[in-house]
Amino acid sequence: MAPYIATTSAPVNIACIKYWGKRDTKLILPTNSSLSVTLDQDHLRSTTTSRADSAFEKDRLWLNGVEEDIKPGGRMSTCIAEMKRLRKELVEDVDASAPALSTFAVHIASYNNFPTAAGLASSASGFAALTASLAALYALPCPPTALSLIARQGSGSACRSLYGGFVAWNAGTLPSGLDSHAVQVAPETHWPDIHALICVVSDTKKGTSSTSGMQRTVETSSLLQHRIKNVVPQRMKDISAAILARDFDRFAEITMADSNQFHAVALDTSPPIFYMNDVSRAIIAVVEEYNRVALLPENGGKRKAAYTYDAGPNAVIYAPAANMKEIISMIVRYFPQQDAFKDPFGLFGAAGAGTG
Ligand code: PMV
Repeated sequence: MAPYIATTSAPVNIACIKYWGKRDTKLILPTNSSLSVTLDQDHLRSTTTSRADSAFEKDRLWLNGVEEDIKPGGRMSTCIAEMKRLRKELVEDVDASAPALSTFAVHIASYNNFPTAAGLASSASGFAALTASLAALYALPCPPTALSLIARQGSGSACRSLYGGFVAWNAGTLPSGLDSHAVQVAPETHWPDIHALICVVSDTKKGTSSTSGMQRTVETSSLLQHRIKNVVPQRMKDISAAILARDFDRFAEITMADSNQFHAVALDTSPPIFYMNDVSRAIIAVVEEYNRVALLPENGGKRKAAYTYDAGPNAVIYAPAANMKEIISMIVRYFPQQDAFKDPFGLFGAAGAGTG
């Protein structure tokens, strides 16, 4: 009998319109829609192999070679159970000759091609790769949007990594969460000129996890309510239009404004959450000055770079490929460091964003 095994990989995504806040913590339903760029497969990605075997006694998981507990009722166990349910409903119940893989335990091994300690969110690529690998193992006839409903229950932002290119996660309104899934706004081929420079400011683990940070913000921040009602819906429309028009100036303006509002919301939380540090803020100042000069009429009047920060101090700078060399030399000049560009993981280099 052939072994039942499948391997797939999924890249990291970096949000331009940030997801921050859950309206349902079990199903992981967000308080607002969000939009991200999926990075290039060659750079930061998780690769996951799943195997089903009737001889396996229980589901087991290894992350970067180290076995992790699968907590009953936890996110990992929910994702595996949901995928087994789909296998039964969509494959075994319609084809009596299909092997009953939904009754077998699975062994799952996942690797990141970037150091987990680098302070870059690996849960998005990790849960997307897990879902995709189980979907391949179970031969599920599901489009990425359907799989995104399950990846979302592992880590919210993971639902966006099932597509390449520019991806929206529609918050949805149904209590079941069935309309809270990812959709592709534009494929990677639409705008391959956008690159992402990842500046690792600190590689220590963040102080406040996104789960507890979000909960505290939902409970205490009035600015979050303003953001949800009055800001994000229009920004989702505006940034989608900018992406479809390949309008980098507008894309950059919205991306930076949204990063800044997300960090303002973190500060508006009680007790306040500080994800950026002095170096993060200095990078903002450098990019703002770079854009101020670029915006002068004699220089073309358009922004040339956009910074964005997730729940940590590391900067991601989006820019058209033609500007990257200049941006990298500027960053290295203001933030000199011994090992710049010699990093074997390529973390301090330009990653093509649009070829996920
Ligand atoms: O999916 P989580 O729980 O890792 O939350 C991600 C939150 C941000 O990275 C800050 C924003 C986003 O939309 O990715």
